[in-house]
Amino acid sequence: MNATATMTPTSSTTPRAATAPAAAGAPRGLLSTRGLSLRFGGVVAADAIDFDLLPGERLAVVGQNGAGKTTFINICTGYLKADQGQVFFDGHEVTGQSPRQITRRGVGRSFQLPQVFGEHTVRECLMVAASAVHRRPGFLRPMAQAVDADEVDATLELLQLADRAHDLAGALPEGQRKLLDVAMALVLRPQLMIMDEPTSGVSTDEKHDLMAVLMKALDERRVTSIFVEHDIDIVRRYATRLAAWIAGRIAADGAPEEVLRDPLVVKNVIGE
Ligand SMILES: Nc1ncnc2c1ncn2[C@@H]1O[C@H](COP(=O)(O)OP(=O)(O)OP(=O)(O)O)[C@@H](O)[C@H]1O
Ligand SMILES: [Mg+2]
Repeated sequence: MNATATMTPTSSTTPRAATAPAAAGAPRGLLSTRGLSLRFGGVVAADAIDFDLLPGERLAVVGQNGAGKTTFINICTGYLKADQGQVFFDGHEVTGQSPRQITRRGVGRSFQLPQVFGEHTVRECLMVAASAVHRRPGFLRPMAQAVDADEVDATLELLQLADRAHDLAGALPEGQRKLLDVAMALVLRPQLMIMDEPTSGVSTDEKHDLMAVLMKALDERRVTSIFVEHDIDIVRRYATRLAAWIAGRIAADGAPEEVLRDPLVVKNVIGE
């Protein structure tokens, strides 16, 4: 959801639920953070976040508008720089690296508002996205040489976009635009895919179909995933793990049913 954030600034005494695992010490995840903090004026958008995501997990992230979900993703993918703390991916520290560098390491992401090139066809969008990983600094070559067209077509098939390949991206309905945004990341064969509200702006009926396509695609390519989601039915159906964000912190983290019963989560997230 893109509603205006209404959170109150966090206090350092926000309680942590019993379900939050202690992610301290050496990073042990595919994606790990230690002490990740970011403040916007008086708002603490990330509050000393320690986090480990293990390979194969399908993590859902829930939280009220303004809780800091997108901020966390933006820091992990290089779109924002943290004031403090570290980000690790696959055993390498990536703190402060650019989005492109982090993409090259194997982290894909999609956006709350899909970042597709509306003036281009669906296939062209994937061609442009696919060319990004081949480009090395100081070494520019024509896109046609750099892109594996078979990979582009396979990814279109995987996301069920093949029959829209020659349509303008800007003309797609929202659900397919969301799929295209994911396709543009998946064409680079990431190890981890982070999706910021993949079902927002899509009708309740279509959400389940959209998630079924996405999750099947990620399974087939054995991609570990994180998705931000406001719909608890979708969370229950698709997540193997759930993390609840409250005021810049992970307030509860664990098995979805357990986290959904957590009193803090019931009060602050589900009861929103
Ligand atoms: N670039 C920015 N400049 C100033 N404040 C920001 C910026 N980005 C985020 N914030 C603030 O940081 C807090 C966390 O925002 P964030 O977008 O991460 O929330 P969110 O959990 O993704 O919310 P939503 O569910 O609405 O997408 C909010 O108070 C927001 O207003
Ligand atoms: Mg957000």
